[in-house]
Amino acid sequence: MSSASGYSGMSLAERGIRRIEWAERLMPVCTSIAKEFRRERPLEGVRVGCCLHVTKETAVLVRVLLEGGASVALCPSNPLSTQDDVAAALSSLGVSVYAFRGMLVREYYEAIGRVLSHKPHITVDDGADLTVTVHKILGGVRDEAVSMVQGVVSDPAESCKGIFGGTEETTTGVMRLRSLEEQGLLFYPVIAVNDSPTKRLFDNPIGTGQSVFDGIMRATGVLLAGKKVVVAGYGQVGSGIAARARGLGCDVIVVEPSPVRALMAAMNGFRVTDMSEAASIGDIFITATGNINVIRKEHFEKMKNNALLANAGHYDVEISKKDLATLSNRVENVSDLVTKYVLRDGRELYLLAEGRLVNLVAAEGHPPEVMDLSFSLQALAVRYLVENRGKLGRRVHVLPSAIDERVALEKLNSMGIRLEQLTPEQLAYLREWQLGTS
Ligand SMILES: NC(=O)c1ccc[n+]([C@@H]2O[C@H](COP(=O)([O-])OP(=O)(O)OC[C@H]3O[C@@H](n4cnc5c(N)ncnc54)[C@H](O)[C@@H]3O)[C@@H](O)[C@H]2O)c1
Repeated sequence: MSSASGYSGMSLAERGIRRIEWAERLMPVCTSIAKEFRRERPLEGVRVGCCLHVTKETAVLVRVLLEGGASVALCPSNPLSTQDDVAAALSSLGVSVYAFRGMLVREYYEAIGRVLSHKPHITVDDGADLTVTVHKILGGVRDEAVSMVQGVVSDPAESCKGIFGGTEETTTGVMRLRSLEEQGLLFYPVIAVNDSPTKRLFDNPIGTGQSVFDGIMRATGVLLAGKKVVVAGYGQVGSGIAARARGLGCDVIVVEPSPVRALMAAMNGFRVTDMSEAASIGDIFITATGNINVIRKEHFEKMKNNALLANAGHYDVEISKKDLATLSNRVENVSDLVTKYVLRDGRELYLLAEGRLVNLVAAEGHPPEVMDLSFSLQALAVRYLVENRGKLGRRVHVLPSAIDERVALEKLNSMGIRLEQLTPEQLAYLREWQLGTS
């Protein structure tokens, strides 16, 4: 009989297994791909090196890959996002996991090195730290990250030479890989899973839109209704955050340099201005740009006392922690998730989750239903790389649209949603060019 206090008496791994099973029941497309993989074993003998947030949803993806016959080694894609119970659970299932919450940067790159020591054939990445490290090693670049990796792998180049493909989960990672491609430095084909419509139209706006506020609420418990929320970046992620903020009763101000996107924000009814003006208005600031120093010294100088600062972009570079520290005469931890900066003039600014992804550090990341889409695509992307080994150029590729449609259709089926079927007449009409005004 289960105990009244839920997890009491359970080991960390048992608790992780329970939570992975909970996610799994909300990820029906992944579950159906797992069944297909179990039957067909398309990844037999393939070693997959993953650098992903170690969450219960990632564990579901790892289990799908295992069902396909792959062996998996996993390190985190952020030093603070690991769910330790999930890491313990995956270890208990025989997966090589090198992750714990709160890693130092050195430990983070050593974990990447340990994944490489498994001599992967395929890299599955979120943010491109693993893929870029491989490229530095193969390209003979020697920097701090590579020397940290070298500390744990005797011959890193030897460990990387069997890699024949990779996948990338997020916008920032895809940007880094496109930059490698443009410079002619990409050593193997990479699938930009982020760019598949079934990923970017759901994970980025809808997953982040919800989980960012989950993170802010868990970290601070503040009332959101009536707050002035400044969203920096009105791209895929920022537009979702702005929409959810409005739904929660916030007064939303958008900051965006792209004319088209700024116009879209304005026509969606948001106040749009630059950060210089927004800085003095906001109660809560959320960055979602993939850019550096989006909020910096001249903005902190104008902010109201008690302003909250949160980041949803991939790296902790969007809110300048250096400038915050320079302007402050005292820095205190209010909790594990909130740091107070006391500025010289006495104002207090509060940074959430150390400026790292607030939805993954202060909450549990995206809901499983959304990760069902992203990780179904990841599993099918790994299969696609195996089945097209040697046939894809050293470029950043997007998955064929048939894979997107399959995932979307299976998701709709799992939701009990019926699709309109076009009649033969309608299908013919859509291909017709002679018929016009009648
Ligand atoms: N937190 C999460 O779980 C999560 C999920 C998906 C993506 N991401 C990350 O979020 C970031 C944004 O991703 P996206 O898919 O929305 O990218 P995107 O390219 O669609 O949008 C980024 C937007 O930021 C704008 N921007 C750039 N510099 C700016 C500045 N200084 N001030 C204001 N706006 C600026 C750009 O013009 C663009 O419109 C990336 O780092 C991505 O990897 C995070």
